[in-house]
Parts: sequence; C-alpha cells; structure tokens
Amino acid sequence: MKEVLLGKSGLTGSELCLGTMYFGIKVSEEESFRLMDYYYDQGGRFFDTANKYATWVPGFSEPVGEYMLGRWIKSRGCRKDVVVATKMGFPYGDVPQGLSRQLILQEVDKSLTRLGLEQIDLLYAHCDDYNTPQEETLEAFHSLIKAGKVKSLGASNFQTWRLAKSNLLAQEKGLTPYSCLQARLSVLWPKVNSNFGRQLPASVDVLDYCKHENVALLCYSPLLQGFFGRTDRTIPEEYNTPQNQEIVRLFRQEGEVQNLSANTLVISWMRSQGFIPLITGSTIQQMKENMDSLSCSVSPDCDDKIKDLYYPHQE
Ligand SMILES: NC(=O)c1ccc[n+]([C@@H]2O[C@H](COP(=O)([O-])OP(=O)(O)OC[C@H]3O[C@@H](n4cnc5c(N)ncnc54)[C@H](OP(=O)(O)O)[C@@H]3O)[C@@H](O)[C@H]2O)c1
Repeated sequence: MKEVLLGKSGLTGSELCLGTMYFGIKVSEEESFRLMDYYYDQGGRFFDTANKYATWVPGFSEPVGEYMLGRWIKSRGCRKDVVVATKMGFPYGDVPQGLSRQLILQEVDKSLTRLGLEQIDLLYAHCDDYNTPQEETLEAFHSLIKAGKVKSLGASNFQTWRLAKSNLLAQEKGLTPYSCLQARLSVLWPKVNSNFGRQLPASVDVLDYCKHENVALLCYSPLLQGFFGRTDRTIPEEYNTPQNQEIVRLFRQEGEVQNLSANTLVISWMRSQGFIPLITGSTIQQMKENMDSLSCSVSPDCDDKIKDLYYPHQE
C-alpha cells in the first residue's frame, strides 16, 4: 500500500485509512484485532478513531475505541510504524460539544491516556464550534503541537467557508492550519437538504477547495454501509435519485464484468480521484474486498460515464 502526503502537514498516511469506529463495540475485540492485523499485514499503517467511539451504542456509555486501538498497538509493538488519528469536539457522556481551549486541552490529555501514547499523529476537530472564536481554537491546537502532544491537525464536518477562514487565520497568525478534512463522501451526492444529524456531507465546493489548497480529503462512510455490493441493503433514501441509480448501475455492471464486488470498485474509484477512503468492515471477507480496491480500476469507458454524472459540468 502506498503512503500519501497528508496535505501540507509533511506527514504521510496510507492511501486507505482504517476506520475503527465499531471495533471493540459491535465487533468483538478479538475479531477487531484480526481485522487490524489483516490491514497491517497488507501494508496499512493509518488508523482512525475518536474520543467518543462509540458511546452512542447502547451498553457502551464509556469510550472504548481509543483504549482498544492502544492495546492493539502495544501488543503488536508497532507504534513507530503507524499513524494514529483521533478526534475531539463532539459531545459524549458529560463532555459538552465544543472547541474551547479548556475542552481541547482536557480531551487531548484523555485521548493520550486512553491510547497509551505520548503523541497523536493527526488530531481532528470532529465538528465545528461557532460559539468559540476560531483564533482560540487554533491557538489551543497550536500549543499542543508546540508541546509535542500532537503532530498535525485536521477538521471534520466543517463548512467550506469555515475551513477556509480558519486556515487563512492560521496563516496570518503563524498557527498550525488544518491539513486534512474528513467529510461524509461517497460516489453518490445526497439530495439537497438531506439530514445526517451532526454529520456534514462533503459539497462540490469543498472538493474544489481541498484540491486547490492542498488539503487532504478523507472520506467517511464511502460505502454507505456496503449496499453497492450486497442484496440485503438498498440505496439509502437520502441518495435515491435517478442520477445516483445510474451511478450504482454502472458500478454493479462493471463489477459483474470484472468479477469483483461493486464495493471494491467504489473504493478504487474514490482513490483514483485523489481522495483517501476510510475503509472498514466487520469480517475479513469485507476487509479483503475493500483492500482488493488497491489492485483494480474501472474501465476507461465506465470511468468517463461515472465522472460525467459525478462532477458538475464546467465550461
Ligand atoms: N468524522 C466523522 O464524523 C465520521 C462519521 C462516521 C464514520 N467516521 C469514520 O469512518 C469510518 C467508516 O465509516 P462507516 O462505518 O460509516 O463506513 P461505510 O463504508 O459506510 O460502512 C461500513 C459498513 O459497511 C459494511 N461493509 C463494509 N465493507 C463491506 C463490503 N466489502 N461488503 C459488504 N458490506 C461491507 C459493514 O457493515 P456490517 O458490519 O453491518 O456488515 C461495515 O461496518 C469509521 O470507522 C470512522 O472511523 C467518521
């Protein structure tokens, strides 16, 4: 698996990042370790978690994800080889939502303890905070970089203008900018005004911003729960449009021609667009299909048709 530069941070991460949101929760810790071993053995070195994983699942009111990832890293003795990304800013338990200085310092110390690490490679603001001045947030993050507790910064679920404003401010004040954006992004565009709760889908203009400002774009929920390649799930209602149905048909048809799961080709196509997909799975078979995306691509004809539907037409 190739390493790719994460924006202007100087840090690199694997071209497929492993999402561990339900590891140790919906997937047992033992099976999760097998899935992480599988990813690692194929060359994967980029792991994604968050301080709140997954406290919204009944029976898991305390965070589990960071502890679990920390235990795996320790047991495999691979700290020096891996890039660890975590996030803070969403509410959980008695921790409120926000990016105030006090919350940032408090949550990062807790994450370091849970992970059992001295440094977080990539720290995301999990969501924006319109009530805290952006300068306060950026200064707090920068102080953590200076202290060696964090190596680089990312934003998640940010509107384009807020990300652009933050990064301009960082440049002006000599603070660390966000070098990555983690956004809800697949090969289908959601219907206008779809509601995903606190999750913010990527927009056409955020793609443009990231490309031109060299901000790495990491895509969460790229498979929309895997429905492209399975018969027990259907296209989510928020994505059910004639244009999207045609894109799904193209991926499935191409999958039949190449004898591959449409999920494999979806991940492969997203990678070919310069995005970094967050892959995950609850079985080795799913992980295998997702990682097989490294060695395949859609045909040029199919690629043209998908691009035509996916990208807005420009003069
Ligand atoms: N920044 C944020 O706000 C945010 C939000 C959400 C997620 N994330 C990150 O993004 C990662 C991925 O998100 P996600 O879980 O929503 O991703 P997803 O790709 O939409 O869905 C993953 C689920 O799809 C199914 N699946 C995966 N591969 C499959 C395959 N090859 N064939 C059939 N089914 C397959 C599995 O469901 P079953 O287990 O039910 O079979 C799997 O748990 C998370 O782990 C987390 O790190 C970040």
